[in-house]
Amino acid sequence: MHLARTGAFLRALRVSSLSEVDPKKTAATSSLIEIEQDEHSQSSTDGTSNWSETKPGKSILGRHYPSDQTTNVTDTILELVGRKLYDTPNHPIAITRKLIESVFPPPVYKNHIATYPVVSTKDNFDVLGFPEDHPGRSRTDTYYVDSKTVLRTHTSAHQHSAFQHIADHEENGYTICADVYRRDSIDRSHFPVFHQMEGARTWQLPPKNHYKETRLQQQQRRAQMIRGSIDAMPKHGLEIIDEAGPYNDHTNPIQIQHDPDDSQLVVEHLKRSLEQLVQKVFTAAQEARPDQKQEQLKVRWIEAYFPFTSPSFELEVFWQGEWLELLGSGVVQQSILNHAGLNDRIGWAWGIGIERLAMLLFNVPDIRLFWSQDERFLKQFQDGKITRFESFSKFPPCYKDISFWVRPSPASASPIGAESSSGVAVAAGGDSKKASPAETQPAAFHENDIMEIVRDVAGTLVEDVRLVDEFVHPQNGKKSLCYRINYRSNERTLTNEEVNELHQKVTDKMMQLPIEIR
Ligand code: DAH
Repeated sequence: MHLARTGAFLRALRVSSLSEVDPKKTAATSSLIEIEQDEHSQSSTDGTSNWSETKPGKSILGRHYPSDQTTNVTDTILELVGRKLYDTPNHPIAITRKLIESVFPPPVYKNHIATYPVVSTKDNFDVLGFPEDHPGRSRTDTYYVDSKTVLRTHTSAHQHSAFQHIADHEENGYTICADVYRRDSIDRSHFPVFHQMEGARTWQLPPKNHYKETRLQQQQRRAQMIRGSIDAMPKHGLEIIDEAGPYNDHTNPIQIQHDPDDSQLVVEHLKRSLEQLVQKVFTAAQEARPDQKQEQLKVRWIEAYFPFTSPSFELEVFWQGEWLELLGSGVVQQSILNHAGLNDRIGWAWGIGIERLAMLLFNVPDIRLFWSQDERFLKQFQDGKITRFESFSKFPPCYKDISFWVRPSPASASPIGAESSSGVAVAAGGDSKKASPAETQPAAFHENDIMEIVRDVAGTLVEDVRLVDEFVHPQNGKKSLCYRINYRSNERTLTNEEVNELHQKVTDKMMQLPIEIR
């Protein structure tokens, strides 16, 4: 067992990976509180540890992780770690983060940023109640640093430490912003690194008024506080379609530990709070496009499922003629609160993907642009403002196909062409249609493995990768697949030689997979 798995390290990680955003500071970069490096990270960078240099492994923000048979994180992904787009001045990701924080401000909500992306599988999955066979745990969907450590797949990985922070500091709520990582398909709305925000609000049972006061009476006083807080929220002009209701006994139950009235009040507070968010963000978006007809803003609540909430809800917003899934939310599983020492609290939580929101607010057509360092992109945005991005140019695509045979394999282990999962629908990544939960690399071909090779070789020079042909050989039962790779930069025209070279490298690397190139 190496050091990264000791309890001491995890505690250090817990304390050091959350930093508060100081609302009084105005410049974007100065709003982060510097994070203390814990003892292990220091020993791995100053050369005093002998294992860091002898064992092959990965260095992530100054810490060294020896690799094992589970490691699948690539250097290309690690190059993107630490860019802090959420704290880059005038960057759409930072602007969106601050807009969301402004709806959940201190003192009720502490606004955190979790700068260090490496977390334990315990924090990313176990404490949140993910079953052992959840597809999100699969190596085809998640970047493993080693068998017990991953690049977080969602901000919920910090839920436990944020709740402990609440317990230690007698706070009530929080937001957390962070970069998160998922192995996924390649197209204009999916990138293996993206950003999420997570929020939570809790209510403590008030102290006894007098020694005879019963728990029920305390609960009633708490209920009055929640009701008062709902009544104090400003009215909004959204049209609301609530298809989920406060709970459903069969499909979306209230937790057995919860008083039904309490749970319903928490749900009401959750829904009204998130409607405030939509109201603020989408009104700002409408103001940025004054030439367009101002539609009545409409939202829809639907039932959802997350291992860490019950009942659970998704919020959709009607935007430019379409229902868009915006966020996941629910009443926090009491066991999670209890585990963090918050036994006498009840609360809600939500999680949202920032890119999806930023793409529609700022009219950004391709998710890769957020990583661009091109002035023609960066110069178009300004802190505190939502402005419409104007494409500076469209460079020509260059399509290359790659065809191969895959060995016949158990159907469940070789998901191909499954719908992508980087939204918030499936918590922590992992598509329920892509069930391959084993911790070790499945012997069968998985589409995400091609995606990873293409990313590793060509990075942001590929716009999308699509399955364009598929057939089964009638005699030997082998399956043939053809993927089309669209090489296109957002910043310049790629030369033929350059693309040929990249494509050759992709083809060479594909030989590592359990396939035969045709
Ligand atoms: N972590 C979820 C995801 O990545 C999003 C989410 C849903 C977060 C519900 C929450 C929540 O805190 O209560 O899909």
